[in-house]
Amino acid sequence: MEIVKVSASREYDVIIGGGILSAADGYIEKALGGRPRLAVITDDRVNSLHGESLERALSGFDTVKFVFKNGEASKNIRVYGEILEFLAENSITRTDAIVAFGGGVVGDMAGFAASTFLRGIRFVQIPTTLLAMVDSSVGGKTAIDLLAGKNLCGTFWQPSLVLCDWHLLSTLTDEIFSDGMAEVIKYGIIRDRELFERLLLGGVREDPEAVIARCVSIKRDVVNEDERDTGVRALLNFGHTAAHGIEKLSNYEITHGRAVGAGMVIAARGAASRGICSDSVTEDIIKAVRLYGLCDKCDFSAEEISEVSLSDKKRAGGSITLVLPERIGSCILKKIPVEDLTNFFRSGLNG
Ligand SMILES: NC(=O)c1ccc[n+]([C@@H]2O[C@H](COP(=O)([O-])OP(=O)(O)OC[C@H]3O[C@@H](n4cnc5c(N)ncnc54)[C@H](O)[C@@H]3O)[C@@H](O)[C@H]2O)c1
Repeated sequence: MEIVKVSASREYDVIIGGGILSAADGYIEKALGGRPRLAVITDDRVNSLHGESLERALSGFDTVKFVFKNGEASKNIRVYGEILEFLAENSITRTDAIVAFGGGVVGDMAGFAASTFLRGIRFVQIPTTLLAMVDSSVGGKTAIDLLAGKNLCGTFWQPSLVLCDWHLLSTLTDEIFSDGMAEVIKYGIIRDRELFERLLLGGVREDPEAVIARCVSIKRDVVNEDERDTGVRALLNFGHTAAHGIEKLSNYEITHGRAVGAGMVIAARGAASRGICSDSVTEDIIKAVRLYGLCDKCDFSAEEISEVSLSDKKRAGGSITLVLPERIGSCILKKIPVEDLTNFFRSGLNG
């Protein structure tokens, strides 16, 4: 078992271990300083696979449960409203807490509800996807999507505890596991060459604990330094500028992880074309991305990707900040004029 301590606006532990769900009640009682009522928020798929295990683990608590249909399409203002009404109908008070049990969709939406219900109540994250374990459950970003785009409405609201039981990952499809691996590979590229080299050996699915803990530590370091995302936290967007464009252009048929895989290759090749890194960085990233079943290319043009990326919320005035690798394990933030983005993507796509 590994414990990563986060010191953001709230201090909390991220506990990572195989089988720790069965001991969740003790961890939650300790983190919340007692046994308040718990409102579990989850999706239908996670509930049918693991709902009973959670119920058993929390049998010493008074719990209520809200279940919604799995998938990004549920991360909207209607389901968010239903969660708030559910909390109110069940008389959840300011001393009670929410438990987010699921992937990033559940975590983002339950976190947003926790941050706004009664002007903010505590919440615990029990992530069940690799992406949620290494990324979305840590760092306090909460969100729902609007018709105009993903994650356009949200808050910064840190959990009181994150419990990562990686045995839960055994029921993930290969595709959803690979999507999470895109973020894992990203951590290696932005901060940790040793992690990246470990990934090239394969076998993460069979033995994920140390890899998850390393990714969480990197995210913790970045969040401790820049909780509100005004500086260094932007490094976590490596590969994501092109990825957001690719996802949208495919009408979300290309998953986030696959788009991030291609986006990281585009960013590296673009950086190499400007002398920021050597060509071997792109080659290494392609190797890692392929090894974990992700894509290293896409069928969209530089013009299309840049047009869609520029409608993204990360644009600031006349410039856009790109995350570019200098080498594996180190990335820089570089502002470029928006007019230059198409050129950048062109060299990123074509070499
Ligand atoms: N808050 C943040 O910092 C942050 C960071 C990255 C991504 N995100 C958000 O996270 C979301 C993506 O998260 P995700 O990839 O976990 O998606 P998700 O929550 O939709 O989960 C993907 C699918 O896996 C299923 N699932 C979950 N756990 C399972 C398990 N153990 N076994 C079998 N199936 C399981 C879900 O029911 C769902 O169908 C996006 O909305 C994204 O915006 C947030």
